[in-house]
Amino acid sequence: MCGIVGAVAQRPVSEILLEGLHRLEYRGYDSAGIAVINAEKKIERVRAVGRVAALAEKLNEAPVVGFVGISHTRWATHGEPAERNAHPHLSQQRVAVVHNGIIENHQLLRENLQQKGYQFTSDTDTEVVVHLIDSYLEQSLSLVDAVRKTVAQLEGAYALGVISTEEPDTLIAVRQGSPLVVGLGLGETFIGSDVQAMLRVTRQFVYLENGDFCVLTCEQRCIYDKDFQLVERPVKESTVGSFSSDLGQYSHYMHKEIFEQPIAIQATLEGRLEAHKVKPCIRGEGVMETLAEVESVQIVACGTSYHAGLIAAYWMEELTNIPCRVEVASEYRYRRCAPHKNMLFVTLSQSGETADTLAALEKVKQEKSILASLSICNVDESSLVRESDFSLLTAAGPEIGVASTKAFTTQLVVLQLLIALLLQAKGEAESMVTQIVEDLKKLPIIIESILEKDSQIKQMAEQFIDKNNALFLGRGDQYPVAMEGALKLKEISYIHAEAYPAGELKHGPLALVDGEMPIIAVAPNTHLIEKLKSNLEEVRARGGVLYLFADQAAEIQADEQVHIINMPNIPDLIAPIVYTVPLQLLSYYTAVFKGTDVDKPRNLAKSVTVE
Ligand code: M6R
Repeated sequence: MCGIVGAVAQRPVSEILLEGLHRLEYRGYDSAGIAVINAEKKIERVRAVGRVAALAEKLNEAPVVGFVGISHTRWATHGEPAERNAHPHLSQQRVAVVHNGIIENHQLLRENLQQKGYQFTSDTDTEVVVHLIDSYLEQSLSLVDAVRKTVAQLEGAYALGVISTEEPDTLIAVRQGSPLVVGLGLGETFIGSDVQAMLRVTRQFVYLENGDFCVLTCEQRCIYDKDFQLVERPVKESTVGSFSSDLGQYSHYMHKEIFEQPIAIQATLEGRLEAHKVKPCIRGEGVMETLAEVESVQIVACGTSYHAGLIAAYWMEELTNIPCRVEVASEYRYRRCAPHKNMLFVTLSQSGETADTLAALEKVKQEKSILASLSICNVDESSLVRESDFSLLTAAGPEIGVASTKAFTTQLVVLQLLIALLLQAKGEAESMVTQIVEDLKKLPIIIESILEKDSQIKQMAEQFIDKNNALFLGRGDQYPVAMEGALKLKEISYIHAEAYPAGELKHGPLALVDGEMPIIAVAPNTHLIEKLKSNLEEVRARGGVLYLFADQAAEIQADEQVHIINMPNIPDLIAPIVYTVPLQLLSYYTAVFKGTDVDKPRNLAKSVTVE
């Protein structure tokens, strides 16, 4: 998704901006651009379609030099990926703007500006912003007033970076809905969509709030709130590790991140377990007292994080008897939800910046319909963490591949910690907590043993290369694991995949079964194994070809129609975490064989900061 980097300094900023864009590459984008104000107080701009490297090449051939500048990676929303649609956008060579988000009323604004004689050179919603600012400068307003008047007319979610030849030493930044952070250097100031973009130049950050308007020069950093009152926002020192882009022995980040799961889980558990209990590891005041009052749980998330929520709901109701509902954020945010008594509102997100999840949290906060909010997140300083009453962090380390892997399994780990803490807060079932603790401790080693099946799974994946469709099956808490397997396959290998609870087969999907469509099932030896085996027989009897990840103890026989990867005997409670791993590898190798862009699949972004 779009990324913004800006700088105002006492040294040339192009390299800082370019480095920042490189650091935002993980978010997914299709074009990039940079604009600076040069020594003659003129705007110089360079844009390129494709990778930041293509922009760097252009800058190498024709460098732009200036002490104030903005830059951008674009993920197309309005208008195809093309140089004319890439940011920064200019008006009259006097204003340049970069934008993340969507201007919902751009059509109307565009028509008004066209009537005033503005010529549009792009199909973007952003271009209205730059012309609107220019139209106010034309009326002799100051840059600050021109931007203020402009944002007052914008509807939607956005983050903006603005520079102008009218005030060549100033950088203006606005945050309304889309993330934006200010980085503080010595006599220099930066803006970025996240802290990663600026870690090379500073570790001191100010996290902007919605409605914040910043006027930044080398000497001054003025932040105004939504009522245009000057405010002091706290300065925070980042503890985020500056991640290495070293792939080591791996060809793709996704593969590396799949293999990092034992370490990521170990790090997530670090210092949080005692012999028979979980240490209070949720951040926020009075958390255990609040957990003791919880009578219902609502989980809201998107994509892979949503699947983690679905698995957690099985666990939550089974182990705590607390009713737990799960919903995708884009639905939850727009519907009237019947209030539940003493509800803990849990958001799950790898990035902590997902627009729909943030909006769902905002909605329940405004309605005051919840007991408390808790975010489970992999990014400490993210918007979601800052907006929630409580937070429980995963320690997966930065996840660069667009397909989420280690963030998902570590989310499942902390969801078990949450369940244990709920039990502890309510003074219930010490034996159950002990069981959770013991099983979690075994997890890293069990996952190591699954990763040893890498080459076996690679062989299996070869049979998927020419497939157009796939069906994933699971039962109980393995049904969301099947959903996650299907999502992984479709997003990186572009094979259409669906997941079904195996018991539902005969209610429709059985009609699809033939020798062509692979049917993948996860089969741990739980109380549902005999039911699942009957479902698999139904498939076999209709000529379906099965690819199974099955516990040996389930005694399923392999033959030319049934391909099996044997799984170890493991505790039921951690089985969803363990069975996820071979499905990740299956998708990974299928995508590699198909030659897709594994880490940056088409049309997708790592951090989905627009609705
Ligand atoms: O950062 P989040 O966990 O909130 O992201 C949610 C989804 O966008 C994300 O899980 C997406 O589905 C991934 N591409 C899945 O691999």
